[in-house]
Amino acid sequence: MPNLTDCRDDFPILQRVLSNGQKLAFLDNAASTQRPSSVIQAISECYESYYSNVHRGIHTLSEESTERYERSRKSVATFINAKTDHEIIYTAGATAAVNTVAGSWGRQTIKQGDTILLTIAEHHANIVPWQQLSAETGCKLQFIPLDSDYRITTEAVSTALQKYQPKLFAFTAASNVLGTVSPVTDWTALAHQQGSTVLVDAAQAAPHQAMDVQAWDADFVVFSGHKVCGPTGIGVLYGRETLLESMPPFLGGGGMINRVTTEGFTAAELPEKFEAGTPPIAEAIGLEAAVKYIRSIGLEEIEQHEQTLARHAEAGLRQIEGVRVVSPENGEKSGIVSFDLSHAHAHDVAHSLSGRGIAVRAGHHCTMPLHHALEITATTRASFYFYNTREEADRLVEAIADIQEKFKPTGRRRRRRRAEGDRP
Ligand SMILES: Cc1ncc(COP(=O)(O)O)c(C=O)c1O
Repeated sequence: MPNLTDCRDDFPILQRVLSNGQKLAFLDNAASTQRPSSVIQAISECYESYYSNVHRGIHTLSEESTERYERSRKSVATFINAKTDHEIIYTAGATAAVNTVAGSWGRQTIKQGDTILLTIAEHHANIVPWQQLSAETGCKLQFIPLDSDYRITTEAVSTALQKYQPKLFAFTAASNVLGTVSPVTDWTALAHQQGSTVLVDAAQAAPHQAMDVQAWDADFVVFSGHKVCGPTGIGVLYGRETLLESMPPFLGGGGMINRVTTEGFTAAELPEKFEAGTPPIAEAIGLEAAVKYIRSIGLEEIEQHEQTLARHAEAGLRQIEGVRVVSPENGEKSGIVSFDLSHAHAHDVAHSLSGRGIAVRAGHHCTMPLHHALEITATTRASFYFYNTREEADRLVEAIADIQEKFKPTGRRRRRRRAEGDRP
């Protein structure tokens, strides 16, 4: 396992001792990662030295801000290997990016009776915009189910694509709950064989694996800045240039036009066409610093480190009686481990862990349809990143063993539950 522990010094927040005296173990990275000093400094420097609105002013600060904003776009294009930086649209996040595709491409392309194919493992960000489009257009949504080993198999993908002939196949590159990783290139190729357009939700992939949108051959790819050590309020919509060219603008306003008269407007070229209003300027500059930092660590090293930690924690959790890990036991997986305790609700688990300085997430993780399919209302999710340590993974496992024991029904509690009609 590569030694990445030195990186911890780059993250001021990771040095924090909590008010209860506990050392912070931050295992909530799937929700949002932390920022290294270089990102914080890039944002401060922007506001302290050269901040101004972009693309508009003919003065030094505006020119400098514009130059840095566009440099960020180039860095992000390189980060995901886009063919041109015109294919990078800055949005408010992954959610806003999916909504942009639904509101622009979707409204233009999708008609009544068309099908949009999703998997049951999607985040609400990749479900609700399509449900909204369905309410508007009368298109149908179909969901590919999990197999008995918590996987969406390529066989199931292929069968569904042939059966439904969807206009769009939108799927997550890495599940934010199950820890599973999708074979994006294979699924994209299968979808294209059926003539489907492909959107890849890379919110949980971008922080952890080297992305190559050209190798994926996806039509749209979305991810968020705050999950790659960058700022909140910025995300990326990658779109194939020819597709983006053919799509109408989504939001209207300043910045996205060529000309406006009282009769109408003409849209600007890419990428401005999709960036109405003042864009996230300091956020873009922070995002550039974030992708630079991540590349300096190395995505292969990141992936290897967090997978090792997550598998170590998962193995420990599986040893504890009454703990159900909602993930396949084998195969390629990410740094996410979600689980359910027979004796304690996920919220109680997260609360107890918090008392020990361990930050995890509890609930449905914006995947209600997935939790419904799993027949669990809530899970506890530990999500590792490159700055986490083996000691933190061990702390988690020890704490879960202890919590499971503490919440074990006593004879009296068991009798009371039976009297109330609960199964023991
Ligand atoms: C798989 C997945 N997709 C989309 C999103 C939405 O990201 P954001 O809230 O940054 O827009 C998330 C956030 O947790 C996610 O995990």
